[in-house]
Amino acid sequence: MTNAKKFQKVMLVGDGAVGSSYAFAMMHQGLAEEFVIVDVVKERTEGDALDLEDVQAFTSPKNVYSGEYSDAKDADLVVITAGAPQKPGETRLDLVNKNLKILSTIVKPIVDSGFDGIFLIAANPVDILTYATWKFSGFPKNKVIGSGTSLDTARLRAALGKKFNVDPRNVEAYIMGEHGDSEFAAYDEATIGSKPLMTIAKENGVTKDELLKIEDETRHKAYEIINRKGATFYGVATALMRISKAILRDENAVLPVGAPLDGEYGLNDIFIGTPAVINANGIESVIEIPLSDEEKAKMAASAETLKKVTKDGLD
Ligand code: NAD
Ligand code: LAC
Repeated sequence: MTNAKKFQKVMLVGDGAVGSSYAFAMMHQGLAEEFVIVDVVKERTEGDALDLEDVQAFTSPKNVYSGEYSDAKDADLVVITAGAPQKPGETRLDLVNKNLKILSTIVKPIVDSGFDGIFLIAANPVDILTYATWKFSGFPKNKVIGSGTSLDTARLRAALGKKFNVDPRNVEAYIMGEHGDSEFAAYDEATIGSKPLMTIAKENGVTKDELLKIEDETRHKAYEIINRKGATFYGVATALMRISKAILRDENAVLPVGAPLDGEYGLNDIFIGTPAVINANGIESVIEIPLSDEEKAKMAASAETLKKVTKDGLD
């Protein structure tokens, strides 16, 4: 039995590079019968709604329109991608003050509309903005989800897939912690076809240093993209579509997201990257990977980085 409704509505807030790519991905998947777009730049949302109408003769019909926060009233999912992106040389954490301010103007009118669905946050620094959305909304924790390390995990899996010549979808490896510079790869528990990645690496003459180089390249990939084209959007848009699908189709899918911790990894009062079970209720449960001691220390250090910025930004 699934809890998925027949008619589903999604609101996108922030119709920039990430938001419009997400909208395009959603049209292609045939997800959500009603799709409403909100941005401070009204002409952009009107233009995008018209443009996205042209997709539907090839995919599936939808009601796509430029709307207002009051339209969130009967939405199942609100996806927030509104906020400044990094400029070359900036970190995600540098965006905190600017984007917290923007977020505070968005969450309140959505809650005031009577919205009772799931929030999915992608604007950066995403772990802190996810925590702030939970605080600003007063929603139960399971109904607020961050994109967390979903994109980073996709990057890691693609790189490992290339290294070991396997389909990235069959690589079970996670980037954990902050979506940002303190994240790390949980290599000790990673597998390909249920075989430990570390064993496969040894058999293939791949050294620990080579794996650490892949981890580092994953951590820095956004900077490489931003330096070349100014922004990253296709990867995150696809990650957001995947999380949206798990919610709208009530999938119980195990996905890396920014999830609230309640004692897992010895951490509390934080949203951070970890695998979790995602369904129509939002975060059904967090899956705590049995990390090695070294990895536990990395998770704690990453959480500490986030807590410090959260405290400075929200107090
Ligand atoms: P963008 O500048 O192209 O788009 C941002 C949009 O937000 C613009 O359309 C702008 O008009 C809108 N906006 C600004 N203030 C608003 C407000 N008060 N209300 C409604 N809309 C508002 O930026 P982008 O490249 O789409 O990036 C958006 C955010 O996503 C950034 O914070 C970026 O760092 C983040 N991002 C996150 C990930 C991830 O993995 N979580 C990946 C890429 C980008
Ligand atoms: C990313 C953004 C910038 O591509 O957070 O990782």
